[in-house]
Amino acid sequence: MAEEAILGYLAKNEEIGDSGEFAAKHGLNHDEVVNVIKSLHGFRYVEAQDIKRESWVLTDEGKLYADTGSPEAQLFLAIPPEGGIPREELQIKLGPLLFKIGCAQAAKNRWVDMGGQQVTRKVQHVDDRVKDLLLKIKEGQVVDQDNIKALKARKLIVPQTWNGYSLKKGPDYAPQRKKFAADLTREMLQSGDWKNVEFKEYNFNAKGQTIEAGHLHPLNKVRHQLRMIFLQMGFEEMPTDRYVESSFWNFDALFQPQQHPARDSHDTFYLKVPSTTKELPEDYVERVKRVHESGGYGSRGYEYDWSREEANKNLLRTHTTAVSARMLYNLAQDTLKKPFTPKRYFSIDRVFRNEAVDRTHLAEFHQIEGLICDRGLTLGDLIGVLHDFFSRLGMSKLRFKPAYNPYTEPSMEIFSYHEGFGKWVEVGNSGMFRPEMLLPMGLPEDVRVIAWGLSLERPTMILYGYNNIRDLFGHKVDLGLIKTNPICRLGL
Ligand code: PHE
Repeated sequence: MAEEAILGYLAKNEEIGDSGEFAAKHGLNHDEVVNVIKSLHGFRYVEAQDIKRESWVLTDEGKLYADTGSPEAQLFLAIPPEGGIPREELQIKLGPLLFKIGCAQAAKNRWVDMGGQQVTRKVQHVDDRVKDLLLKIKEGQVVDQDNIKALKARKLIVPQTWNGYSLKKGPDYAPQRKKFAADLTREMLQSGDWKNVEFKEYNFNAKGQTIEAGHLHPLNKVRHQLRMIFLQMGFEEMPTDRYVESSFWNFDALFQPQQHPARDSHDTFYLKVPSTTKELPEDYVERVKRVHESGGYGSRGYEYDWSREEANKNLLRTHTTAVSARMLYNLAQDTLKKPFTPKRYFSIDRVFRNEAVDRTHLAEFHQIEGLICDRGLTLGDLIGVLHDFFSRLGMSKLRFKPAYNPYTEPSMEIFSYHEGFGKWVEVGNSGMFRPEMLLPMGLPEDVRVIAWGLSLERPTMILYGYNNIRDLFGHKVDLGLIKTNPICRLGL
């Protein structure tokens, strides 16, 4: 529509002096006309020159007075023609703001007498010039400079820049836009038309369409980076595909007594079907039972009757340390056939706890776990490895606090100084596995295991700025966010 009108007009006329007037005359929307001009100018059909004009528009207050009359006129009309009205009464009638402005302006115009007890009219009739001027401006009519100044000073109007164009024919002017072929078709080749057709030029600057592809969840991104760190440090990944575990491997093998509160069904999900494990390594089970009941290897044990039924119960693993226990047991079995070889193991996978869900807790989360198994390791080695590991995550200020785990002694909570929060935050748990855990497995006596664990969610929430874990994981996650979140860069 607009394009036809412009090109058609220029076929018969030298120029279009003002796109605004042109749009008004042809009943076109000016914004649309401007868009068409920009495109025609780009393809050199027309030459366009900017026109800028200052125009005036009404403020909200100006619009109000254009509708209801100026305050001074309203004030004048509120005064009875005969006699007068007490100030207070007039103020109540008009409201404090209108009264104040009305008084000032009406007194300046010498419309009213405010000297006595009563406010009285000084003239019989007034013209509401302010209202008339505002209506003129609203309709786009010209108003003289003095009046503009006065209305502007009263903040009833503000300037607005209007942008338009003047137009002439361009070097490639044609009364109609040429249609270019966008594709070379089979028909063109067959008919020979391709020789005559004008093809559209390639626009190498155009942005391509965004590709709808899969997107990695922030947890996956952070997990990938952590896996890279472990691999760079020479760790092997443990197989963590066993969400369902027996109580034996999750707790008993880790010297966690059967009365321990973590083993309560309030803290652990037990399976109804299948409710028990099929098989356990019997001779090892026997040694674990003995160390719980009466100790050995320099320990007194827990001195209670260990129940096989309790150990058989299936559960959703509460920590990946269950996997570590299996791996260390396998390693000990290997030493029956060949000499002991030191190992560095890691895993990053899901664990389950029967917890009340809140901002920072879910019933399932991911654990990052690392362990080193070698002869003669000390607590100093653990502290050194933790410094190495965490500094690769960008946490180089660490502190340790003595802690308790049934399967480690000594145990340490790990704290890192968070520059952003300006305080020490707990980032993990660690320790040296107890002899009561390692020796029944059959590992050589001088073999020590240093280990640590942390959650994947915590650093991910800090890195990606999540306050609520439910925005990160579970059915409330916003898929849009998954598409747009940035790559993960640790250690910066
Ligand atoms: N399993 C511990 C937890 O659930 C973490 C840990 C791993 C602690 C290894 C010490 C050694 O928090």
